[in-house]
Amino acid sequence: MKKWSREKLVAKAIEAREKAYAPYSKYKVGAALLGKSGRVYTGCNVENAVYPLCTCAERTAIVKAVSEGEQKFVALAVATENGGSPCGSCRQTLREFGKKTIVLIADTTGDYRETKVADLLPDSFSAKHLET
Ligand code: THU
Repeated sequence: MKKWSREKLVAKAIEAREKAYAPYSKYKVGAALLGKSGRVYTGCNVENAVYPLCTCAERTAIVKAVSEGEQKFVALAVATENGGSPCGSCRQTLREFGKKTIVLIADTTGDYRETKVADLLPDSFSAKHLET
């Protein structure tokens, strides 16, 4: 795929955050997931009065991408007011589709730090462990 911009992906995550449905925590999260095809899938957190049903922004984006036929990812940007890091469930969900995916952890000013799935979730469980 052609060259992509970290700053643009972060900007898309910040924009996606505006759509967050977070009336309970008030903690809005946005995500932007870049597929190998070049397409970007955005997501936000979607909360529920039954609290455990809340869906994180990252997983919203991943589910959107996979349901549209894309399973290989280059990078994910996640944006919160204070640069919050992806939760364990989102790390594992990302891991399912590759260890090398770049993760950009941003705040709403556009500042970000870069890491990757393998560093966020070392020694991870994967499909390999299910091979017999
Ligand atoms: N949240 C995310 O969307 N992504 C994360 O990685 C961490 C947490 C959401 C879930 C909930 O709606 C709110 O942030 C507070 O936990």
